Amino acid sequence: MVAFTHLAIALSTVAGSLAAPAADPYVDAPDFELNGDRLMRRQDYNQDYKTSGNVNFSPTNNGYSVSFSGAGDFVVGKGWRTGTTRNITFDGSTTASAGTVLVSVYGWTTNPLIEYYVQEYTSNGAGSAQGQKLGTVTCDGSVYDIWKHQQVNQPSIQGTATFWQYISNRQSKRPGSGTVTTKCHFDAWNALGLNLGSHNYQTLSTEGWGNAGGNSKYTISGS
Ligand SMILES: *[C@@H]1O[C@H](CO)[C@@H](O)[C@H](O)[C@H]1NC(C)=O
Repeated sequence: MVAFTHLAIALSTVAGSLAAPAADPYVDAPDFELNGDRLMRRQDYNQDYKTSGNVNFSPTNNGYSVSFSGAGDFVVGKGWRTGTTRNITFDGSTTASAGTVLVSVYGWTTNPLIEYYVQEYTSNGAGSAQGQKLGTVTCDGSVYDIWKHQQVNQPSIQGTATFWQYISNRQSKRPGSGTVTTKCHFDAWNALGLNLGSHNYQTLSTEGWGNAGGNSKYTISGS
């Protein structure tokens, strides 16, 4: 439960992209694709946050790979610049050899400022789940424990701030493949008084801390 330094891909990244979109390594050009009969936004956001140690992150058009060793804290992944209630499908693998490693649907909202996790895999059971356990919800074939936790004066997409984390922690871990029906979690959180605000980015991400070692590789799609 290190990790109070997660995230913080920060507004500076976005601001930089406005000034020089072609040169920004973290934000790809917006793009759309047909999914059935619907025009969907292709994955257009690369998340790349790290503190210390070796974290070799390689985003692709529709996913990412990362290998890491002796990592202090990092969150890397692929997703969308704007979160929605899309269903997010992932396919790949994660191997954790040291430290704490988790794979989550991960994102932020503003007004209120919220950092959220749907933890599909955690190497140690809890992952970032801490604070207060409020209940459970069954989504996509598993029970998830729901937690809320307050971060006080911690890094956020709005700089150092005090904010809540909402966390669904899957009891039956799946580091390989699956679909996350985000609406199932958002509705369950809402019913417990955990309200989201305006969506900022939304990704599938691998996070590690505590001299984390291992690797992850995923393709991702959203419907
Ligand atoms: C997401 O999945 C749910 C449950 O399977 C389904 O009812 C819904 O139509 C899906 N949403 C989209 C946008 O595909």
